[in-house]
Amino acid sequence: MAKLRRLGLLSSCLLASADDQVVLQAPWFFDCSNHPEWSRFRERFAEFRKNFASAKGNEEEVIMEMQQILAEANDLGRRYEPTFVKYASDWSVFHLCTPERLVEVPEDLQLNFCFYGFATVQWLGLFGHQHFGNVPGMAEWAQNAWGFLNDASKFNAMHFLESSGWHVKMVEMAKALSAVFVGSSGYRVSRDAALPSALRMPQLVVRRSPVHTRFPDVRRLKAVAISYHTALLREPLSFWQHMLSHLFDVDATLHILDATAKSAEDVARLHNHCRFIGGSWCGTDERLLELNELFQEVVLDCHTGDHKARHHFLRSAREYHDRFVRLMGNDPELLSADFFMCGEPVLFCRLLAHFGQPVIGYISTPISVYVRAEDRSEWYQQFYEMALEERHIFAATTPLFAEWVAYGTGISLPVIRPMCTYTEATYWPKRAQEVLLLRTVSLFWDTECVLNYFARAHADSSATAPLRFRESASLSEKERMGYTAFAEFLAAVIYPYSPSQFWFYELYAMGVPIYMPSRDTLPLYVSQDYSVCPDFEGNRPGHAPHRVHPHSPFDTDDWAAMTYWAAFTDYLTLPHISHFDSVPSLLRQLQSADHQKISHSMQRAHMEHLGVAMSFWSQALELIASLRGIPRTVSGVEQVAGDLDASDEHRDLSTRQPSGGSPARPDGAHRLANDGQTRQDHPHEYHFDLDSANKVLSAATQVGGSHWWVKLRRTASDPEVKVWSRDCCTETYGHVLFFLLGNSSNIKAAAECASLKVPSNVEVSTICPGRGDYLFVEARPHAGFDYTDSSVAVLMLPEVRVLSRD
Ligand SMILES: *[C@@H]1O[C@H](CO)[C@@H](O)[C@H](O)[C@H]1NC(C)=O
Repeated sequence: MAKLRRLGLLSSCLLASADDQVVLQAPWFFDCSNHPEWSRFRERFAEFRKNFASAKGNEEEVIMEMQQILAEANDLGRRYEPTFVKYASDWSVFHLCTPERLVEVPEDLQLNFCFYGFATVQWLGLFGHQHFGNVPGMAEWAQNAWGFLNDASKFNAMHFLESSGWHVKMVEMAKALSAVFVGSSGYRVSRDAALPSALRMPQLVVRRSPVHTRFPDVRRLKAVAISYHTALLREPLSFWQHMLSHLFDVDATLHILDATAKSAEDVARLHNHCRFIGGSWCGTDERLLELNELFQEVVLDCHTGDHKARHHFLRSAREYHDRFVRLMGNDPELLSADFFMCGEPVLFCRLLAHFGQPVIGYISTPISVYVRAEDRSEWYQQFYEMALEERHIFAATTPLFAEWVAYGTGISLPVIRPMCTYTEATYWPKRAQEVLLLRTVSLFWDTECVLNYFARAHADSSATAPLRFRESASLSEKERMGYTAFAEFLAAVIYPYSPSQFWFYELYAMGVPIYMPSRDTLPLYVSQDYSVCPDFEGNRPGHAPHRVHPHSPFDTDDWAAMTYWAAFTDYLTLPHISHFDSVPSLLRQLQSADHQKISHSMQRAHMEHLGVAMSFWSQALELIASLRGIPRTVSGVEQVAGDLDASDEHRDLSTRQPSGGSPARPDGAHRLANDGQTRQDHPHEYHFDLDSANKVLSAATQVGGSHWWVKLRRTASDPEVKVWSRDCCTETYGHVLFFLLGNSSNIKAAAECASLKVPSNVEVSTICPGRGDYLFVEARPHAGFDYTDSSVAVLMLPEVRVLSRD
């Protein structure tokens, strides 16, 4: 019976090497094929392990064979022990592998030093001891074996065990070594599951993370976003998700509006283009449609002639505001939001400010959009005031829009460019002969066709393969899924139709080289947009726009003004954009440019902008979280094992209750000992003020001790008291503290219930038998040991927690 049980143990150890997959012949100095005795033993041992792994029945036989192997191993080990000892630390071993150097290697070493054979024998010694411990001589062998193997493990000598042709694995060797080691020394390796029991020892500091390197916990913020422009909301929201999710979890509800939507069907259609945002974010509250009744369509002053631009204006900005408040003012979702987001029109930011919470406005239009000239001064003034209010955060997508705001209001806004992290694509020009042509609004020429015509001509004249231009709108449905296909083009050509297009930023973020019309002609392209019409001119009352900029951004008649303002577009401010003044010049550049290099430069510039955006948005959300009183809790590995006890919270009678006691130093108030913060360093502690105590008392009287008290949440019976001691200096009270229970803050009327040894930097706890409404912690002179000064006991108390036990 005893034998069978042993066999059970053996099988689990020996099965491990059964799936022998050695296919390459090991060198002779590993497998010792040059040595008949070692060779024979190696084969016998290998065979035994295989037999053992497949042995179904006869345990007796296996045990017998095992004993035979052990006997042989023991014999070999004894005989070659001197050789091993002699050569194990001989440098000559190093040269065994180099035929030319063998002349330097002693002959005896070459012939008789079988390192891995000897190691295998020692492993068997340990192994045999584990299972046949009562066989005479086994213990002695194991003891020696352990020493040899430890020596053999030095200098990485064991690294080739598994390639040596000997059927023992390194883990088996390591396990055998650690088993004996653990058994004889009481040492436990650190991987050992000793941690939980350590946690139960309250005074043991398990580990701590330096406070100054900890990350704050993720803070949850609830946002409601309303805009007529999807991309403006998607940009910051997706940025937060991609880049700041380790700090903030923003739960956002989106409402995408459209000035033309009149019905539920229109809303459904809008939902359809929400798909760009992805899933749950998109919603449109039908109540908001009512606001559209206030819009009226106006033909803009600029671009008269055949290309009249129409635009929506609000009949009255005030009515718009009031209607919104009437419709949504009591909406529970809006009332519970931590902050709001707006983009277009900027006026909507003012509507959302009604709720008194922070508003984030991301600006990519003139702020006058939708606002009639009559309402503009009032609105500009409101914007000015809002922007200066600490809780509201405005940023512009491009330098151009920031300058427009400065021009009209005198407010200077940060420029946070769209980072388009949602593209999740990077330049990978698989379509090496294809160039993406961004959809152009003008339909006069078939731009795609024209470019391809030139491309063919260029190819003919230069005897190269023609490039092919593909208009983004002509790509198949499948190609337009996601952004990957766009990142596969050699480059992109953009004939811009407005001062800021998200496509531009998306391509930039992906590192796709961008070609645009020449600097000189760009003003023509960007001035096509409705947003630069004189209809949007305006300024805050009392503000002189021309002192900020010499030209109006809305002056499309003056070439100097148009050129001046085009210089603020990112088409001209961002580096690494290529410009062309004719199609042949475009083709020549496309043919000769180093697009990989351009892309790398763009990606480097993008990284810098990413850094700016990271800082800006995390600071913005940080501000909102602090204004909303969402605490900045810092996570980290708890300092002290006892902190892990989550049940404290439910039994806590003392945290943030009224407290007092002996005089406190100005930097060591009483409340610091029960503020919930268990940090043990100064100034996170109550600190007795010895000097002021001395002043109060007459010179004849000794101060003696000092104490601290807390009024408990309710009467406590036999409570538990936990104390966190300071990280130093507990000798100032002789390393001992006394606990008392009382029914008033008068310590003289209180009854002592316990005392504890309290060295520095520990958490200790005790039960305090008795009943009372106040708990006292007292430091006494002469009562402890190793005082700094035994006639005075200076109490320092980082934290005390009184826990009910009833
Ligand atoms: C405090 O009052 C309770 C009765 O409410 C009494 O049982 C207890 O002994 C008193 N404690 C002290 C320390 O006097």
